[in-house]
Amino acid sequence: MIDLSPDEFRQLGYQAIDLLAEQLAAVRDLPARQPIAADLRGRLLEQPLPETESDPAALLKVFARDVPPYPMGNSSPRFFAWVNSPPAPLGVLAELLAAGMNPSVAGGDHAATYIEHAVLNWLKAIMTFPASAGAVLASGGSVANLIALGVMRHVKTGGSIRGQGFQDQTAPMVIYTSTQGHGCIQKAVEILGFGSAYLRKIPVDSGYRMNLDALRAQVQADRAAGLLPVCVAASAGTVNTGAIDPLDGIADLCVAEQLWFHVDGAYGGLGILVEPSLYKGIERADSLAIDPHKWLYMPVECGCVMVKDAQAMRDSYSLVPSYLRDDTAMPWFSEFSIQQTRGFKALKLWLVMQQIGVEGYRDLLRHDMVLAKSLQAKIRARDDFELVAAGPLSVTCFRYKRQGMADLDGLNRKLAETVQREGKAFLTTTELNGQLVLRACIVNFRTTEADLDILLDAIAEAGGRVPTGD
Ligand SMILES: Cc1ncc(COP(=O)(O)O)c(C=O)c1O
Repeated sequence: MIDLSPDEFRQLGYQAIDLLAEQLAAVRDLPARQPIAADLRGRLLEQPLPETESDPAALLKVFARDVPPYPMGNSSPRFFAWVNSPPAPLGVLAELLAAGMNPSVAGGDHAATYIEHAVLNWLKAIMTFPASAGAVLASGGSVANLIALGVMRHVKTGGSIRGQGFQDQTAPMVIYTSTQGHGCIQKAVEILGFGSAYLRKIPVDSGYRMNLDALRAQVQADRAAGLLPVCVAASAGTVNTGAIDPLDGIADLCVAEQLWFHVDGAYGGLGILVEPSLYKGIERADSLAIDPHKWLYMPVECGCVMVKDAQAMRDSYSLVPSYLRDDTAMPWFSEFSIQQTRGFKALKLWLVMQQIGVEGYRDLLRHDMVLAKSLQAKIRARDDFELVAAGPLSVTCFRYKRQGMADLDGLNRKLAETVQREGKAFLTTTELNGQLVLRACIVNFRTTEADLDILLDAIAEAGGRVPTGD
């Protein structure tokens, strides 16, 4: 039986909500992660195809036993890895409500469509983009960047990409990002057919920002070699250190060289709410990606792409079969991106952005940035750590060090693994200037000063257990 009576649905729903409320109550005290037992891993991986029906209440019990106790960890206040935030609890309920309605927000005259238009207008206003810009919600930053660069490709091929592909281009097109640009830019360049051989990774300055002189020189060198520079994909918050490229200078160069100016703000774009001066020039971008499932605390998935020239965005993706044509309503979102059937992602934004308000978000983001500064101060004050990079946002890169230990890369890799396994806190590593460093990113409204001490103590304690000479 697929359908449930309203009473059965209510009972199961209460069971599910109770489970979530218990997790919420425990999240501060539980370890960030706990190891999955080998037998559970095997059981989860190798379940037989269910041929016959099962009782939903029993299934929820199995879920409660086997799944939530082994989370990724990002709801914990001591989760510092990657850029994965906890979800706003109201956003979790919004996911349930959205699934309950289950519209396809491809477009058309129903409430969900207008809610997406409304939240996109809010996001454009925050990012200083005009209301006339084209925009859609996407699965995340990677797809938002891909959609934006797809519009760039359409414009830079004079629209012929859709019919001719790259077959009639006279010179290979070149795209520029920094050595710190996110991997999804390279993926997009590859998927869109430019080829990663034509993606230039421009060196960065001491603050890990794209070096403008090097960019200018590379563009000139490529032109001199008969190539066609078409786009700079700048970062407003790199994943490694939270660096923000010199957006205004890049915008000037893009105007002078007739390049498309794209900004990847998936991690850091929303920091404009707190430090607008760092983002000067973002308002001049042709396209922009941001990720509400990072710093707006939306449950995954929720990315967003905006393109100044809405018509170019529509021309890049619009393909309306006759059975879908509806010229009376607003243009369909499916004409502005890749997907046809689209989920009701806008509902979580609509509810949580009203719950918190822009002022509230400003406080939440500032809280993360202040904590990052505090972590950096703690690191500076200790002999057993060294600070490697402290971007303007909320990422800190650092190393544990101990007298007599030569292989600091190996030591820090081992410490990250130990801390992850033991679960008091969770952080990851990255590579900067050929060095392996610990990286702590704070996009977490639950993290407190005390959690920072727990993190540093967990690393130092694990470090103290490593025999000298190991
Ligand atoms: C700067 C930056 N760009 C793009 C992405 C990709 O976003 P997503 O993981 O949502 O696809 C990330 C993810 O961390 C990021 O930090």
